[in-house]
Amino acid sequence: MNELPTLNLDVATTARVYDDLFRGKDNYDVDRELAAGLRERCPQLPAILHRANQFVREAVARLVDEGITQFVDVGTGYPREPFLHAEILAWAPQARIVYLDNDLLVGAHTRALMLPCEAVSFVWADITDTAGLGAPNKLGEFLDLSKPVALVAESVLEFLPGAAEVLAAMAELLAPGSRLVISHLASDLCPEVGLLREVFSQAGIELYPRDRDELAEMLTGYTLTDPGIMPLHEWAARAEQFSQLPRQQPPGCYGVIAEVR
Ligand SMILES: C[S@@+](CC[C@H](N)C(=O)[O-])C[C@H]1O[C@@H](n2cnc3c(N)ncnc32)[C@H](O)[C@@H]1O
Repeated sequence: MNELPTLNLDVATTARVYDDLFRGKDNYDVDRELAAGLRERCPQLPAILHRANQFVREAVARLVDEGITQFVDVGTGYPREPFLHAEILAWAPQARIVYLDNDLLVGAHTRALMLPCEAVSFVWADITDTAGLGAPNKLGEFLDLSKPVALVAESVLEFLPGAAEVLAAMAELLAPGSRLVISHLASDLCPEVGLLREVFSQAGIELYPRDRDELAEMLTGYTLTDPGIMPLHEWAARAEQFSQLPRQQPPGCYGVIAEVR
């Protein structure tokens, strides 16, 4: 991505729509209208996304415990407190964190809020341009890719028709022992999530909720970590290490922790 795109504030973006779903302030009328349509069709969506966010934070904490100190948060979206890098650095001061997004405004906000912090970098890039991420290597400028890295993808892969290809390319790029943390809207856990497709599509945004089998197919370069592809509303009950999560949550999202083979 070398050329700056033109900003068009009359068109909704996923980053700003999700910002509104999390009751943030970095959004415009067009984003709020789309978010309202999403809430109408799937009232439990904000709760599902909060659960996804909790899962990702707890998964990252687990990876820090396991000795991972390099993180790439792809599809960062608008910075939300507590900032992920601040949590990671509190546990592992030697850690390095890259935020990566293809949205120019996300980049501006992230840079303003999170930088300068020597341990944090923002990369403005399209994650589907895996050749561009490879060589010359935008990630390798900041991270040591000969060592394990955790790739964190919260609520982003469901917006990518070619998510499987992206994950396969990342498995090639990252060192063995690298990790993957995903949250992903599910097409087979609650019917309302399926209704979101139409609402997004009317705003020109394509959403691809996936079922368990489709997610499993996307993860061929990875070894699943216990408890596998997990409906996040069951996560707290099944994994005691995630006991801080509230127990009663609506279904609608999968969570995965996996390791690059
Ligand atoms: C739905 S938002 C989720 C943001 C954040 N991860 C969260 O959970 O709130 C999806 C984010 O992914 C970014 N994104 C979408 N497609 C992308 C791509 N091909 N490359 C990089 N970022 C992308 C969007 O700009 C947006 O910030």
